[in-house]
Amino acid sequence: MRIVVTGGAGFIGSNFVTATVRDRPDVEVTVLDALTYAGSRKSLSAVEDRIRFVQGDIANAALADQLVANSDMVVNFAAESHNDNSLVDPWPFVQTNIVGTYTLLQSVRRHGVRYHHVSTDEVYGDLELDDPKKFTEQTPYNPSSPYSSTKAASDMLVRAWIRSFGVQATLSNCSNNYGPRQHIEKFIPRQITNILTGVRPKLYGGGTNVRDWIHVDDHNAAVWRIIESGQIGRTYLIGANGELDNLSVIRIILELMGRDPEDFDYVADRVGHDLRYAIDSSSLSGELGWYPRYTNFREGLQATIDWYHNNRGWWENEKDAVEARYQAQGA
Ligand code: NAD
Ligand code: DAU
Repeated sequence: MRIVVTGGAGFIGSNFVTATVRDRPDVEVTVLDALTYAGSRKSLSAVEDRIRFVQGDIANAALADQLVANSDMVVNFAAESHNDNSLVDPWPFVQTNIVGTYTLLQSVRRHGVRYHHVSTDEVYGDLELDDPKKFTEQTPYNPSSPYSSTKAASDMLVRAWIRSFGVQATLSNCSNNYGPRQHIEKFIPRQITNILTGVRPKLYGGGTNVRDWIHVDDHNAAVWRIIESGQIGRTYLIGANGELDNLSVIRIILELMGRDPEDFDYVADRVGHDLRYAIDSSSLSGELGWYPRYTNFREGLQATIDWYHNNRGWWENEKDAVEARYQAQGA
């Protein structure tokens, strides 16, 4: 199988590419990545001699078309992915998440190539803390932020291209990922690298917001399961029953790093901050037999902490700039 992985130099994409090269010698991987601030060739260093890397924009129709024409499958991880950035400047989100997805869809349509769209649970909006319900494939779309609304728009484009043009596509909507090589602007790596550089961790608002954590390798195993066995036209929800409020997560990180669990700062809350996400992935488990393997969050988190500790060269140069940006926002 010849597979084009867009956004393959980012957090989830680079873990997908690394696992694919390791476990599937029959798969030929081409990475298409614009190398925005969120992408890095360093994230692919373990596999660089076994993949083809093309630097470019998914919204570049000629380039996308040329790569898609010579492939059997496109997995689209490329996106602007950070909610806080989307509140400061939404335009790159509209351009990459909507126009970029449109461009890829036109190419896979033209060449009859199979497509998998990687999306987020944030398209469903948020839940109350005491709501017994979780998101399912039937939950109506109700996105809150510029980021999640552009992801919702991209999902709608995929669904329309399936129905109107017979594009052979599947979609997945996953909850919050953690693991190695996540950009240090994101919650967990920001706090780990804060502690490693002597900065106090920062908690938005009261810290009651709940996220449903899943290890990135579990997410990617589910994506492969959908590529291989998923039903064309279907959406699958991916989650690992990992609900935790942010206050608990920050205290666990501090504790695992040998600090006082109260040694953090409360900072300004995110505007429009989604309260709670929770995924019901029973149809993925029931129909495709996928189950998460990382069921112990503390163990997965400890391994993630160790990765940032042992790979300072991957993130250290960017740390001051990321924190300066947050400080300017009061966060
Ligand atoms: P990321 O920000 O770490 O990586 C995004 C990658 O896409 C980067 O390598 C970047 O250079 C590349 N990119 C951005 N714009 C591009 C463009 N126009 N053309 C080509 N490449 C471009 O993101 P991530 O956290 O790895 O997320 C990957 C995908 O998974 C996204 O679609 C995101 O919406 C989705 N998702 C993320 C999570 C999560 O918790 N991180 C959860 C569910 C779904
Ligand atoms: O649910 C899936 C989504 O998860 C993905 O679609 C997004 O791409 C991904 O970024 C993530 O979105 P969140 O906004 O939930 O992730 P983030 O890491 O930015 O924040 C997680 C929670 O932690 C959120 O409630 C905000 C809070 N937070 C974040 C930062 C950066 C803090 O309390 N302090 C912080 O410093």
